[in-house]
Formats: sequence, structure tokens, C-alpha cells
Amino acid sequence: METIKIKKSGPLHGSIRVSGAKNAILPILAATLLTEDECIIHEIPQLEDVFVMYELLENFGAKIEKIDENSVKIQTKKIVSCTAPYDLITKMRASFLVMGSLLSRTKNAMISMPGGCAIGSRPIDLHLKGFSSLNVNIKSNNGFIEASTEELKGNTIYLDFPSVGATENIMMAACLADGITILENSAEEPEIVDLANFINSMGGKIEGAGTGTIIITGVKKLHATEYTVIPDRIEAGTYMIAALVTGGKLSIENLNVNHVQSVIAKLKEVGADITEKGNSITVTSKGQLKACDIKTLPYPGFPTDMQAQFMTLLSMSEGVSIINETIFENRFMHVNELRRLGAKIKIEANSAIIDGPITLSGAHVKATDLRAGASLILAGLVSEGETIISDVYHIKRGYSNIVEKLKKVGANIGYFNI
Ligand code: UD1
Repeated sequence: METIKIKKSGPLHGSIRVSGAKNAILPILAATLLTEDECIIHEIPQLEDVFVMYELLENFGAKIEKIDENSVKIQTKKIVSCTAPYDLITKMRASFLVMGSLLSRTKNAMISMPGGCAIGSRPIDLHLKGFSSLNVNIKSNNGFIEASTEELKGNTIYLDFPSVGATENIMMAACLADGITILENSAEEPEIVDLANFINSMGGKIEGAGTGTIIITGVKKLHATEYTVIPDRIEAGTYMIAALVTGGKLSIENLNVNHVQSVIAKLKEVGADITEKGNSITVTSKGQLKACDIKTLPYPGFPTDMQAQFMTLLSMSEGVSIINETIFENRFMHVNELRRLGAKIKIEANSAIIDGPITLSGAHVKATDLRAGASLILAGLVSEGETIISDVYHIKRGYSNIVEKLKKVGANIGYFNI
């Protein structure tokens, strides 16, 4: 079994380059199905989730050619299947994002229902409601969602919650529809803007992405494009915390500073010294870290994908911190693992109460999901002795070369088979 072994590391020093954003590349890969022409994409992070999406696209007829380490050429001249099989959909929930583009391209899609997930039930009702409003017929049969339409028709859609995935799926279904779609209460995440920019670079007409109202004017056809994905703001935030917990100094390169403002605000509250320069940021600690309260919210609020990593940070900060998780139910799976390292955390409904500072001590722990895994790596860096993390495939789903990147700045970390 592959594990990650970490020994207590001294202060980390140096610079880390952030890779392309996982949550931007997945919908963008799905959107390559919208055209029969060639899409060249740069800054693709090397992640398991990306490889699953490649498999799925190939299943629909895409030809994928690697240009270099982080660039690929994708072309789907003809959609050869409209069915997304169970094994691929269950490997990665974001696979469901192909529904919008399949509907746009072929008017049909048959996608296996995504199962439950470690961080809550994660329904797809908002995606389906949106498709129905665009004149799509939805049936559920034998564990599959069958969607078909004679013609996609623009409409006004109000999302009950600004779901990232639903906003993206509806954008992909609406961009080749007849007429105008107005999407109200849409998600405002930078990854939504990136998807809209990608579609617009193919000749799409999407306005307002990054605000709560997106206007999509259907066009007849989309064409070839060459596009560079935005940097991963969650990866950047994770490394900022690595600098702080180890009492080191890290320059995080290749990020969009505007995308991490809520994280920066909270890190400063905890006691970080942060300097911003162009597309890089330098993080150092000003001494004893202090407790702070956090509430996860849709963007531009504090990201739920940084919640677990902050829990490690707050375990080392002086005083009582409260983290209120409002996006996902059951996203506290990492708490039990952090407790195994000695953290003092209590859960009350959707809040975690963290009492710090604690001297953590190494143990064998399990990555229960992607960000939980990141929180354990951060904890491992400062735990006395040795920490072994199993189920590392979760971490590989979303962090490009995390072990190599941390090693380069002085972490005592490596893969280890037990
Ligand atoms: C995306 C991100 C994920 C991040 C999350 C919230 C990708 C690939 N993943 O996930 O990393 O944690 O945004 O920022 O981009 N919901 C419904 N009905 C729906 C859809 C969602 O009730 O039809 C609920 C979910 O259960 C959840 C909340 O809305 O409680 C947020 O989900 P959503 O924004 O859709 O997250 P994802 O797109 O799945």
C-alpha cells in the first residue's frame, strides 16, 4: 500500500510554483466536447481527476494528444457514445459535468447517477432543474439519468443555491441553445469565469460570469481554441499554510492574488506576514499564531476547500477557534484523524471548536478525502516524530506533485510502501 511518510520538518524555505486549477480544468475538459475542432490547453495539472476526465472524453470519441508535460491537444470530431459509464462517474463526481456539453452537441446524454460522497450527499437536483428549464426531458432509469431534447431553448433560471457544478453544467448546455439564458443566483467562483472565458474563446457569448447573473446567448457553433487554465487557488492557500505552520518563509509563485483574498485575510488574522507582488506572494509567520473564527461560504467568501487545512493551522494557534461549515454537510471527516495526532477538536452540528496550541505527535492516519489529506500533510510537517498517511490516492486526485514540491522547500516527506 502506498503511503506518504512525513517526519517533523524544520521551517520551509524557498518558492513553490502553483499548478493549473483542478476545479477549472475539469469543466474546461468537459467543454472541449462542445466543438468538433481542436482545443489546445496549457497549464494542465497532473492529477488523477484529470486522467479520469481524459478517459471519459475518450469514451465519447475524443482524441487526446500530449504536447508537453502540461499541455494537450483535444479533438472530438464525432461523439461516438452519449453514455457515461458507472465506473467512471463513480470515480469522480465532476464527471457529471459532461452532461451539459453532451446535450449541446448531440441533444442526448445518458449518465450514471453519481453516488454519495465522503463529504455529504451532494445531490444533482439543481443541474437537472436547470436542464429541464432549457427544454430537456429528464428520466431516471436503472441508475442512469437519461436526458434528451429536440432543441435546447434559452430560458431564465434561478438557482436555489449558487452551486458551482450546476452553474457550469447549465452554461455548457445553454451556450449552443436557441435564444438567451439568464442564470440568476449563479456561482461566482473564479473557475466559473475561466470556463466562460474558455467557451468565449471558442466563439461563445457568455456575459456576467463572476457575478450572480450570467447571460448566455446561444450561438450556432463553437470553433478551435488555444487556452491557458488559471492557477489553483486552493493549492496556493495550502502552501501558504505550510509556510506558517513550520514557521518558515515561502514564496508562492504563479497565482492570481485576487482569487485568494479571503484566505489572505484569515491568514493575517492568525498572524501571517504576507507580501504580494504581481502574481506571487510571500508568507512568513510573525510569531505565535492566534485563534480565529471561520465560516465557509460561496465565493468570494472563505472556501470550503480550505477548511480542513485551516483546522490544522488553528490547532497550532493560541486560543479557541470556531469553524462553521455551511457548504457541505459531513465535511469534518478529517477531525478524527487530526485528533489521532493530538488535536483538541470538538464538533457541534456543523461547527468545529478547536482548542490550541497543541504539540501534535505523529501517528498513522488516513486521508478521508482530498482536502482532509492536505490537512494531514500539513499536520505531519509539525508533528513530533513520524506521520504515515494512507489512502493517498485522494491527495493525488487534486494536488500536482505535492510531495516533490514540499521536498524542494525542505520538507522531510516521501512516498513509502507498507
Ligand atoms: C465544486 C468543487 C469543490 C468545492 C465546491 C464548493 C469542482 C470540481 N468541485 O463542487 O471542490 O468544494 O464546488 O465550492 O469544481 N447542491 C445541491 N444540489 C445540486 C448541486 C449542489 O443541493 O444540484 C449542494 C451540494 O450538496 C453542496 C452545495 O450545493 O452542499 C455546494 O455544491 P456545489 O457548489 O455544486 O459543489 P460542486 O460543484 O460539487
